[in-house]
Amino acid sequence: MKDAELVGAQKTLSPVLKAKALDNRLPDPILGDRYAEEAMRRLDPDYDKRRFGTSQIGLAAVVRAKAHDDWARSFLADHPDAVVLHLGCGLDARVYRIDPPPTVDWYDLDYPNVIELRREFLPPREHYTLIGANVTDLTWLDRVPHDRPALMIAEGLVPYLTETEVRRLLTSVVDAFPSGQAQFDTVPVWAWRTSKWDPTLRKYGTRFHSGFNDPAAIADWHPRLEYADEAPMNDSPVLMAKAPANIRRIYRLMNLMPGMKRSTRIVRFRFGPRAGHPAERLYDLPVHLQGDARLLGPEGEQAGDLLDLRERLRVGPDHVLGHVVTGLDRPVDGVTLERAVRRGRR
Ligand SMILES: C[S@@+](CC[C@H](N)C(=O)[O-])C[C@H]1O[C@@H](n2cnc3c(N)ncnc32)[C@H](O)[C@@H]1O
Repeated sequence: MKDAELVGAQKTLSPVLKAKALDNRLPDPILGDRYAEEAMRRLDPDYDKRRFGTSQIGLAAVVRAKAHDDWARSFLADHPDAVVLHLGCGLDARVYRIDPPPTVDWYDLDYPNVIELRREFLPPREHYTLIGANVTDLTWLDRVPHDRPALMIAEGLVPYLTETEVRRLLTSVVDAFPSGQAQFDTVPVWAWRTSKWDPTLRKYGTRFHSGFNDPAAIADWHPRLEYADEAPMNDSPVLMAKAPANIRRIYRLMNLMPGMKRSTRIVRFRFGPRAGHPAERLYDLPVHLQGDARLLGPEGEQAGDLLDLRERLRVGPDHVLGHVVTGLDRPVDGVTLERAVRRGRR
């Protein structure tokens, strides 16, 4: 399969791969990813022979990859039993760069034809699984273990999803795992709105579908989600230290323009059970609930909004908990859950 068989957003994997391949040619690369150079050569043998030659204008994307790598390494150092969900992986070689210990299970997910290309270009490894799926079809979540800390990495993916899709994805991941970290990058609303005129995106026949002026506010989507921090990209010290002088000048000028300095925001969130939170109390109950339905309160609010479980809990036959309650083996319906909750209170 060749680049030509990729369509729309799938094609956007190639400029980032090219940036990483060109970075590897620098005397002191930022990422130093030899897999990117090899894969890019196979994808497009003439990738470095066109108008911009070996121009390093894409280096900011390499900085973004480095920021995600650094965050991932630090999470895995603290959680060597983690499950990694690397979503919209494209042909990125993160798993080889990070080379996690065998106690980590790593899942790379992208559209099926991108995954097919990965199989051709990148070697298999132990504790590493490829999932060919649309990330918005959340049934892929059933294929990963749920009883360990999760690291969700989505580099260059979120702008291609609608806000509703991002929200469903993120809240489902939080619901599915006992604790974890989610790291991704977003574009501002102006970049989303003007993306239909972006020449690169037009060339690939795609556009952005979401934008966030305050990505930290995404933490409000789920009571267990907390905003942690942001990594610099266009004004990153590593870019200023390692990019060739002409590229540094371009970025310095670009960063003077309002909005450009933060034209991509690389953000990190953490999640864990909160002390005294209804969801946490439910963890100990002898039930396992399935599906994507929610535990509802009297006014239809979700479990996360319930302050006093004993007084306000109402579960009907149509209302079963999602992945909030895990670690047990038998799915039950809502009625059984209600009884189990009563038992749990005693
Ligand atoms: C800009 S590329 C980034 C690739 C990779 N993360 C990197 O940084 O090199 C975006 C990737 O997201 C994937 N993607 C976009 N929408 C997707 C969806 N709904 N489901 C699965 N993958 C998706 C594309 O196929 C593409 O590989």
